[in-house]
Amino acid sequence: MSHKILVLNGPNLNLLGTRETDVYGAVTLEAILDGLRRYAEQRDAEVTAVQSNSEGALVDALHDAKGWADGVVFNPGAYTHSSIALRDAISAVDLPVVETHLSNVHAREEFRHTSLVTGVCLGVVAGFGADSYVVALDALLRHLEH
Ligand code: DQA
Repeated sequence: MSHKILVLNGPNLNLLGTRETDVYGAVTLEAILDGLRRYAEQRDAEVTAVQSNSEGALVDALHDAKGWADGVVFNPGAYTHSSIALRDAISAVDLPVVETHLSNVHAREEFRHTSLVTGVCLGVVAGFGADSYVVALDALLRHLEH
């Protein structure tokens, strides 16, 4: 069965490729998404991507996903560390969500060590750069296939 996956990216991730390249790498979000789409094809899955810098738009995207998606790969960016609204939206839609970060947030500033969303996610992938998304998608598809 072909799984439909929402790949959701939060604030500042539209700037990947130019933003703090020492931390996040030089790959653009479009290039990451192209790679993910190719990987998804091999796995008979379908990726739809949404990026927003607004917390409310991310909440709306999660609500919308309830109607069509089987699961979500989600990098909430800085909202990871602050957003009760996103945590509540993840709980409300009751879809498997994999929290995904390019950087190893636990090896960085202390304020990045706390995630408000981890507790309502299926799992977390962090620290593998652009590959974090592929690992997260793989884990999500394996979960859905089991
Ligand atoms: C990030 C980590 C967050 O702490 C940061 O605010 C981001 C990106 C990551 O992918 O490593 O914007 O989610």
